[in-house]
Amino acid sequence: MPITLKPLHPLFAAEAAGLDLSKPLPPAQRDEIVAAMDRYAVLVFRGQKLDEDQQLAYARQFGPLDVGLRKIRKGQPHRFRHDELADISNVTVDGKVAPRDHAKIVNNIANQLWHSDSSFQKPAARYSMLHAVVIPSKGADTEFADLRAAWDALPEDLKREVEGLEAEHYLLHSRFMLGDTGYTEEQRKLLPPVTWPLARVHPGSKRRLLWVGIHATHVVGMTVPEGRMLLMDLLEHATQREFVYAHRWRVGDLVMWDNRAVLHRGRRFDLSERREMRRATTEDVEERIAGAA
Ligand code: OGA
Ligand code: MN
Repeated sequence: MPITLKPLHPLFAAEAAGLDLSKPLPPAQRDEIVAAMDRYAVLVFRGQKLDEDQQLAYARQFGPLDVGLRKIRKGQPHRFRHDELADISNVTVDGKVAPRDHAKIVNNIANQLWHSDSSFQKPAARYSMLHAVVIPSKGADTEFADLRAAWDALPEDLKREVEGLEAEHYLLHSRFMLGDTGYTEEQRKLLPPVTWPLARVHPGSKRRLLWVGIHATHVVGMTVPEGRMLLMDLLEHATQREFVYAHRWRVGDLVMWDNRAVLHRGRRFDLSERREMRRATTEDVEERIAGAA
């Protein structure tokens, strides 16, 4: 069955129908998904029934998997058998809803700040694939902002100003902002900051995009306050409502987004209600030629 795409927003994001993601994709369909991702940057697949292994197998068809934050949490309890599956839930290893002061909750809240997954490391994330298992009765949408449209709409003088600038991205910046400072010197140094240009070109669509987000701490070569203010201004520009698609979850949804083209954030919800999502993520590395080492 061919894939059908139904746009969900005037600029980007589409619902993709006609696929059962629990089964391996024929190569032509995999390529069709990549092409649709280059165009839409967010694809919504409804009514998927994926266990942990099937979700990882789906993701692996698009490249090697990122383990993200598990790098600094090695050996800590995990609800899943695989480190490559991120536990985007407010549930503890014993299956109970985590109390509000549980260490895990700060991750839920940090996800509510506009970001691109793993932009604090190199390679960063390419595709994130988030699957809804249990959703709360209200709130908890996930929003996406189109960074290509944000670039296009930037005034010419600001484009010129931003072109050539780089920002430093650091994992714990968002945590510090939320007042979560309980990290050892060793943990703070485990993932050192990386720099990215503020203006990037997407390798698939060749579109220019404004590369900002909460992991960006300051602009290289500017004072911290001036650079941080510029980053805040650019983030505000990039996340105007006209560039945002808000996804209202249903159980069984798998939403796939391109971290090189959009920012995303979760929305607030009642943390005493259960929310269980799992995410598989690919690393943004060059495509390997099939069969090559
Ligand atoms: C993520 C994320 C937001 C949400 O899974 O990377 O940021 O709404 N999720 O759960
Ligand atoms: Mn995220």
